[in-house]
Amino acid sequence: MTVLHLKGVSRVHGSGENAVNALIDTDLQIAAGEFVAIMGPSGSGKSTLLNLAGGLDAPTSGEVLVEGIVLASLNKKKLAAMRRRSVGYVFQDYNLVPSLTAAENAALPLELDGTGTGKARKLALAALEEVGLDAKQADRFPDELSGGQAQRVAIARALIGDRRLVLADEPTGALDSTTGEEVLKLLRRRCDAGAAGLLVTHDARHAGWADRVVFLRDGRVVDTSAPLPDAETLLEGAES
Ligand SMILES: Nc1ncnc2c1ncn2[C@@H]1O[C@H](COP(=O)(O)OP(=O)(O)OP(=O)(O)O)[C@@H](O)[C@H]1O
Ligand SMILES: [Mg+2]
Repeated sequence: MTVLHLKGVSRVHGSGENAVNALIDTDLQIAAGEFVAIMGPSGSGKSTLLNLAGGLDAPTSGEVLVEGIVLASLNKKKLAAMRRRSVGYVFQDYNLVPSLTAAENAALPLELDGTGTGKARKLALAALEEVGLDAKQADRFPDELSGGQAQRVAIARALIGDRRLVLADEPTGALDSTTGEEVLKLLRRRCDAGAAGLLVTHDARHAGWADRVVFLRDGRVVDTSAPLPDAETLLEGAES
């Protein structure tokens, strides 16, 4: 089943002389269970593509479908509800709410969607545990967490509930390489469990966790291929 479908999607930022063709006539389909990496130079349109896929931005032309629904057909309220229920988003800069604890940040999408506070907290603690944060850390505020811990909270928030589409923009930026690998394993596992995943990364080793790598250049898909040998294979090679 196709979870994400971009059909001839273009996005022009600005207008007139300042117009930037950030994404040009892009087609992309991601099925349930599939984990796709996007690579490309700075400014090639990676974040633009992710924002369109998550309904945070709308295409200038073409269509974005999530679970078969054309996002442009939804009104603001329905689009917001769809984002909370179906889409998990890990932003490059975490985007945690400073006045909420780690557990409250992770629980936010559920609470906004009407889940009771008690149940939301329980699920948030479980999601935080999944990313390696304990109950004590769960009650800390973002400014009491290290960059790596804050990043894990952002990932827990994206994975909480049963999101069918997980989008991550350089989610390992603030993490050391071991923690970064753990986060990718987590995304991989979520895709193996049936989600569709889309990861923006500059790191070929991270792309190695994906089923497929899409390369962007100047707003166009220039290549789609299997990733380099996956991280596990590389590690095995290093050990022997
Ligand atoms: N809101 C905006 N207004 C104007 N131009 C924009 C806007 N957002 C992105 N752009 C331009 O669109 C192009 C694609 O940007 P985008 O952020 O998608 O690239 P990227 O591949 O994510 O880059 P990076 O690796 O640096 O994060 C760039 O030329 C950028 O300057
Ligand atoms: Mg970007």
